[in-house]
Amino acid sequence: MGVRMLWPSPVNRVATLNLGGEPMPVDKPLNFVVLVGSLRRGSFNAAIARALPGLAPSDVAIVPLGSVGEFPLFNQDVEAQGFPSAVVAMGEAIAEADGVIIVTPEYNYSVPGVLKNAIDWLSRLLTKPFAGKPVAIQSASPGIFGGVRAQHHLRQTLVFLDARALAQPEVMIPQAHNKVDANTGELTDATTRDFIAKQLQAFAAFARR
Ligand code: FNR
Repeated sequence: MGVRMLWPSPVNRVATLNLGGEPMPVDKPLNFVVLVGSLRRGSFNAAIARALPGLAPSDVAIVPLGSVGEFPLFNQDVEAQGFPSAVVAMGEAIAEADGVIIVTPEYNYSVPGVLKNAIDWLSRLLTKPFAGKPVAIQSASPGIFGGVRAQHHLRQTLVFLDARALAQPEVMIPQAHNKVDANTGELTDATTRDFIAKQLQAFAAFARR
């Protein structure tokens, strides 16, 4: 019996997904890309993202994606005229990467609009760059919950994108203003650096599976 589609999901337009096959060799160097959900100049989340390359295992490269601020507001009429070049470029970078790390603030218990807007655009690309893609999530907030509620909303969105979200270990960074140097924008808190390094190690193993 065939699979009946209840409604035309864009995910169903994916021709092939790399969901089976052999796991990659355990010593394959990995290339991760980072997406930041804040446009703020002094962003704590951007500070976390900048620290990632220095906290990664030696065989893992981590490079930033473009800013989500380069994307226009999603509008299907604009999409119908063609994808903006920033969207296409980010989609290609994600497709080529071994994994994506999303570092985001929480706005009103959810994902900032600028990040959701970027994800909405990227989800429309026919190449479906997130499908089957390993994704790790990190969040930072001056508050005491570290953005955990945004993480859960983001995980829900990643289900529709058919991404492979890393479950554990989670990285939520509460009271971020005490952990990032206000002058240098450097992540200085040793405990935070340590648990981010542990997540990156776990994420590398996850991406190789
Ligand atoms: C916030 N902030 C916030 N913080 C939080 O922990 N939970 C929340 O729900 C919200 N909601 C919220 C809404 C809006 C519109 C703004 C502007 C801010 C505070 C937020 O964590 C803080 O501004 C961070 O500094 C934002 O992250 P960046 O820009 O420093 O990375």
